[in-house]
Parts: sequence; structure tokens; C-alpha cells
Amino acid sequence: MAKYKLIAWYLILLVGPLQASCPFFLTISLTGKTLHDACLEVNWGPDCAAPPEWIGIYNRDPTISNFQPEMRIDGIKNRTGKITTHIKLGKLHYPGGWNRQDLNESPATVYPKGKCLPHYVASYNGTELLTVDCLKIQPNWLAHLKGVAQIPIKRLFLPGTHASGAFVTNYSKTKSMLVKDYLVAQHFDVWSQLVFGIRYLDLSVGYKHSDSETMDNGADNFWIANENMFITPLTAILRDVRQFVQRSGELIVLDFSSFPIGFYKHPEVYSLLYRLIHKELGDVAYQRNVSNNEQCADRSYQELHEEKRHVLLLFPTQELPHPENESPILCPPWKRFSTSYLNLTQTVNYMRLLFSKKPDSPVQDEGWIFYGVKSMEETLNSHKLQTAKERAAFINPKINQWLKGPWGMNANVVAMDYFSNTNIVDVAREINIYKGFLSSNEKFFNIELLSLWH
Ligand SMILES: *[C@@H]1O[C@H](CO)[C@@H](O)[C@H](O)[C@H]1NC(C)=O
Ligand SMILES: *[C@@H]1O[C@H](CO)[C@@H](O)[C@H](O)[C@H]1NC(C)=O
Ligand SMILES: *[C@@H]1O[C@H](CO)[C@@H](O)[C@H](O)[C@H]1NC(C)=O
Ligand SMILES: *[C@@H]1O[C@H](CO)[C@@H](O)[C@H](O)[C@H]1NC(C)=O
Ligand SMILES: *[C@@H]1O[C@H](CO)[C@@H](O)[C@H](O)[C@H]1NC(C)=O
Repeated sequence: MAKYKLIAWYLILLVGPLQASCPFFLTISLTGKTLHDACLEVNWGPDCAAPPEWIGIYNRDPTISNFQPEMRIDGIKNRTGKITTHIKLGKLHYPGGWNRQDLNESPATVYPKGKCLPHYVASYNGTELLTVDCLKIQPNWLAHLKGVAQIPIKRLFLPGTHASGAFVTNYSKTKSMLVKDYLVAQHFDVWSQLVFGIRYLDLSVGYKHSDSETMDNGADNFWIANENMFITPLTAILRDVRQFVQRSGELIVLDFSSFPIGFYKHPEVYSLLYRLIHKELGDVAYQRNVSNNEQCADRSYQELHEEKRHVLLLFPTQELPHPENESPILCPPWKRFSTSYLNLTQTVNYMRLLFSKKPDSPVQDEGWIFYGVKSMEETLNSHKLQTAKERAAFINPKINQWLKGPWGMNANVVAMDYFSNTNIVDVAREINIYKGFLSSNEKFFNIELLSLWH
């Protein structure tokens, strides 16, 4: 009896708010030129059955006192929607020792449920507060989720970024419009992506051949590349990842997914890259058992944590000579699926195929990555060449919403360009909480509940 009560309680807690009422959340728009200029967006739905009378945006926690809102919005009618406000994000400062340069504030504060930045949204009927949410950092959401530590990584929902290193830190220094509008794919640098809760990074690496590559084993010659351009140096990103897992104890999947410049017919460049990765991340990378071809996605957070090795490195080992190709710190790449060349109808159908995990689905019980992105080519049919931001502004909210339903239960890695116009980290967190609950109550959890979800 008690167990059924627990289940009922859980359904009310988790499924209830998602379906019955009308949750609001804040995201960061893709309209501004730089991150400073980006505006806050208010989102609601899907299927907001009982809209509130009004919502307010605040720069302080509205549950503490009756502050005046910075902005008030009345008359929300649609069941799903998004409004871009005029409120600029401004300069971001992370609390609790989570700025990259906060080296001395050790240890950083643990925020298992995230920590609000000073941007809140609350919904009301009259003076009755209905919901409140905030724009938040989530530097330790995964490590502290109940019941999740023992679940194999292939069954967790990990929010990720596509072209994770394709960001610029200084827009005025970057002259090329091509780079700024078409090749940059993220608002945030890798450090900030991780602080916001991203747990999968996709790195596309290029190598600048030069005459003086002996100096430091060529470390400075490795760059993040997108299409055929060098965007930003690689080493700083590897150091951010290392810093971050050491400060947070979180799990990060680091995927070396493509090598568009300088690698072709240069096996020695792959070896140089391997040595750089080994030097920067060798002691935080999970070591797999190569002799029984262990699949890294079968491991759990707990198992990585016990060895204090929190980074899973995915790398195409067949490009390396022996014995580097048998290095225990490299995991074979996972299957990848991308929507980049699909239109919207095709995208929905493709997602249905992948996320249903039916017997004929190309995804089975394994680690896999879904890139919810749109390529430049796909938008050529429309009259104007869309920028990377315009493409992400279109596709991200849709994918975000579709994953809130039953498909999210079968997601593993979901990676996007410019993830900041979604609440994908919250979605992943909620679904993982639910999975943790299911897995720790497996014995009496049966078809009944699952059928509720489908
Ligand atoms: C808020 O008030 C509206 C009518 O003004 C009503 O339709 C809605 O159900 C109310 N919402 C809640 C959660 O009470
Ligand atoms: C509500 O929906 C209508 C029709 O789809 C649309 O024109 C309008 O912009 C939407 N309003 C908001 C605030 O999303
Ligand atoms: C960005 O680059 C410009 C031009 O090189 C420089 O003047 C400015 O100080 C830089 N800004 C930052 C924040 O580094
Ligand atoms: C690796 O796998 C082999 C073959 O299954 C096994 O004999 C060995 O004990 C494993 N090594 C470790 C460290 O688990
Ligand atoms: C998407 O592409 C398919 C196949 O090319 C085509 O039949 C369909 O009409 C397209 N749908 C839209 C909405 O453009």
C-alpha cells in the first residue's frame, strides 16, 4: 500500500505540474549580437491548460517579498508560446565559486538543484502566486541526482552541445562576418556551457601545419574548426573540461567527432593530438578495459566516480598507430544521428524512429548521440541563407518541447547549437529523476505506470 501511495505522490509531483498547470521558464534569446545584448525570453507550455492572469519578470526572488516586476505581461491565451522581452542579460557573474577564475574559493558551492541568476519569472492569478522559475546555473545537477548514480550512462539523458568549441569570446575582435554569422554555433564558451549543465561536448578539430611545430609538440597548432575555418585554440578547452570536472565532480562526455583540416593523410597528427589529450586529460579520463572491448556507455556515474575519472573520451582509435590505438583512456565513438539535412516533417519522423527504440530502430541498448541541428544547406530552399542563430531559433524550441513527452525517456545524448534558447538541462534533469525513481523501485513498477506515459 505504502508503495502505491508513493507512486501516486510521485505522479502528482512530477507528471502533475508538467501536464495540468502552466509552467513558465526563462531562456536566452538568439537575437542579440553578443551574449551581453541577448534578451531574456519567457516560455510556456506545451499545452498550458489554465493560463494565469499575468506574469512578471523580476531581478530578485519574487517569493521573498512583493517586489515590483521589471516587466509585466497580461493576457496570455496560447497554450504554448514564447515572448522575447526587452530585458538584456548583461554581464554574467556566477555565484558560489563557479566563475572560471574563482580558483581560490575552494571548494565551490554545491547546487544540486541549480542556483538562480538574478532573473526570475512568476505567474499569478490576481495576487495568488502560481509558479516561479529562474534562469539558473546547474554546475552539479547530475552527481547529486537520487537513484541515478548506478544507471548505465547509455540510459541517462545527457544534454549536450553540437560544435561546442565554435564560440567567440570577443565579437569586436572577430572581423569575419562568415565566422560570426555562420560558423559560430554557441553563445557560451565551454566553461559556461558546463556551468549551465551541459554534459556532452562535440569537438571538431583542425591542425595548422607550420614550420615551427617542434617547439611544444604542436599543441598550439590544434584548433577548433568549423567547416574550413579555425575558430579557437583547443588546449584552453581541454583545460576548462579538466578544471570543471575537478571542481564539480560531474560526468562529462568529450567527443572528438571530426577532423576537417590538416589530418587527412597525416597519421602523425592524430598521434600528436592523442598525446595532447593524454597530457591534459590523462588523469581524469575513464580507463576502459580494452582486452574485453568494454563499452564505456555501459558504465555508470558511480563507477567513474569511484575511480575519480569523470571524463569519457570518445575518439576514433582506428586512426591511431599501435599501441596508441589501444589506449585505455579512449572509448570507441558512439552512434550519431543528425537532423541537419531534414525538413521539419522529416525531422519529426526521424525522431519518432530513433526515440521509439522499437525493434527496427537504428538505436538499441547503447550509447548514442542525437544532433538536433539544421545545416545551412537545408535552409537554402527558403529565399534567404539563414544564420546559425536563425536556424537554432527555429529548431531548438521544437526539439526541446518534443523531448518533454515520452521520447525524452529514451534519449541518451541530445546536442544542439545555441542551446540557451531552451531549458534542455531542466528537461534532462526531470527525466533522469524519473528514471532514478523507476530504477530504484523496479520490482513493483510495472506496465501500469509506463502505459500512462505512452
Ligand atoms: C486563473 O484564472 C483563470 C481565469 O482568470 C482560470 O481560467 C484559471 O484556471 C486560473 N488558474 C489557476 C491555476 O487557478
Ligand atoms: C498565439 O498564437 C497565434 C496564432 O498561432 C500567434 O499569431 C501569436 O503570435 C501567438 N502569441 C503568442 C504570444 O505566442
Ligand atoms: C576585444 O577586442 C577589441 C579589439 O581587439 C579590444 O579593443 C577589446 O579590449 C577586447 N575586449 C575584451 C573584453 O577583451
Ligand atoms: C579485463 O578483461 C579481461 C577479459 O575479460 C579480464 O580477464 C580482466 O580481468 C579485465 N581487467 C580488469 C582490470 O578488469
Ligand atoms: C520535406 O521533404 C520531403 C521529401 O523531400 C517532401 O516530400 C516534403 O514535402 C517536405 N516537407 C516540407 C514541410 O517541406
